[in-house]
Amino acid sequence: MTLKSLIALAGIVAVACIVTTFSQSLSGFNTSQCGGTKRCINIPENCQIQGNCQYQISYAPSRDGKSMIIELFGRRDSPQMQYVAIGFSSDARMGNEPVAACIAGPNGQAQLSYSYNQEGKRNIPLGPINPSDAQLLSSAVTESSIYCQFSQAINPTTNPSLPNLQRPFQLLVARGPVQSNGQLGHHTSRQPTSFMTQMA
Ligand SMILES: *[C@@H]1O[C@H](CO)[C@@H](O)[C@H](O)[C@H]1NC(C)=O
Repeated sequence: MTLKSLIALAGIVAVACIVTTFSQSLSGFNTSQCGGTKRCINIPENCQIQGNCQYQISYAPSRDGKSMIIELFGRRDSPQMQYVAIGFSSDARMGNEPVAACIAGPNGQAQLSYSYNQEGKRNIPLGPINPSDAQLLSSAVTESSIYCQFSQAINPTTNPSLPNLQRPFQLLVARGPVQSNGQLGHHTSRQPTSFMTQMA
């Protein structure tokens, strides 16, 4: 290999590294803390190794121990995919569970929105949530991903529909479009995790 091609190769590697670091910080979800300061759920399983995750969830206790800091990441395969959500379910089926959704907004930011899947799958917004029970901490929206980091009270006190995080849940992940009234549209992709998760 000539010196010139070696320099060119080094240049390509350097650019690739910068692009990788940049896209990771843009998309928000930092996998290097998984298993350390936070627990992570990767969907499909072990997708973080290949970098082809469709969804990623993490959770860690807040400093005061009253909340969990939750991260929710979803890959976007089209601009119409405008939300990623987790349902806190007692089983693998949709119906009768609270849902936390991260909804893409303008300027690369997202909003946190809570709703409830009734029996029969109707999704009803819970309206504004008291910040003591849940609030958005940071968000990032790119062409290929939606990400939210939020705190959620372990024992919510202001809305009985919110989940108590000391209970085990089968987490359901979903993503899809948003309706013109701002409510979650029917998901284009949905899947249950195959295990129960007790965050707190
Ligand atoms: C990810 O977390 C590690 C460990 O906390 C940190 O060193 C690194 O800078 C973070 N990466 C990004 C892109 O924020």
